[in-house]
Amino acid sequence: MSDFSRRLLGWQAECGRHDLPWQVSDPYRVWLSEIMLQQTQVTTVIPYYERFLQRFPTVADLAAATQDDVLAHWSGLGYYSRARNLHAAAQMVMGHFGGTFPRTPAEIAELPGVGRSTAAAIAAFSFNTRSAILDGNVKRVLARWAGIEGFPGEKAIENRLWALAESLLPPNAADMPAYTQAQMDLGATVCTPRKPACLTCPLADDCRAKAEGCQLELPTPKPK
Ligand code: ADE
Repeated sequence: MSDFSRRLLGWQAECGRHDLPWQVSDPYRVWLSEIMLQQTQVTTVIPYYERFLQRFPTVADLAAATQDDVLAHWSGLGYYSRARNLHAAAQMVMGHFGGTFPRTPAEIAELPGVGRSTAAAIAAFSFNTRSAILDGNVKRVLARWAGIEGFPGEKAIENRLWALAESLLPPNAADMPAYTQAQMDLGATVCTPRKPACLTCPLADDCRAKAEGCQLELPTPKPK
């Protein structure tokens, strides 16, 4: 196992979040949580997540609902295209995928509203799939740790970050849920944009940005 994944897993066991309601292996629940968490904070999401699942306990229930009913249970979360995509995706699971939630990242990414990173997260959490995530938080962690300069919105830089993320995956698939959660949690709580807590970071020993004192310059901002 790379030192990178070993340290992240150790940190996750000690300091990571273990009590989130969507830390389950039901892909429907994992998917719902990832869509809610795309633009909304954990503490806001939790009560919506619980109410939504009470009303739509399975993907079949969601697919059979009216759009108004779905939107009513999303009301207050904002970014309502997420709810419309969710509803359409549930119907795609019931039709195109024959009622079984798709298992591979490529198939999961066919669902409306699900990009490459979200599909990888759903597969890692639900099926222990060894697929890398690369959301905004992970881009920051990797750009700093490897000292990768250049705006990550640029295709060439993004491709380098994807390749790096793939190369760092833990070898044991059973570690994928904890590893994926660790990256999200590290980016959200330690390797933060303006006040990174390098003193408590499990990756600080060989972090290029820390060695060079350029944590706040990475990732490189969008060119003006
Ligand atoms: N943000 C996006 N996905 C998340 C998850 N699974 N747990 C906590 N925050 C997240």
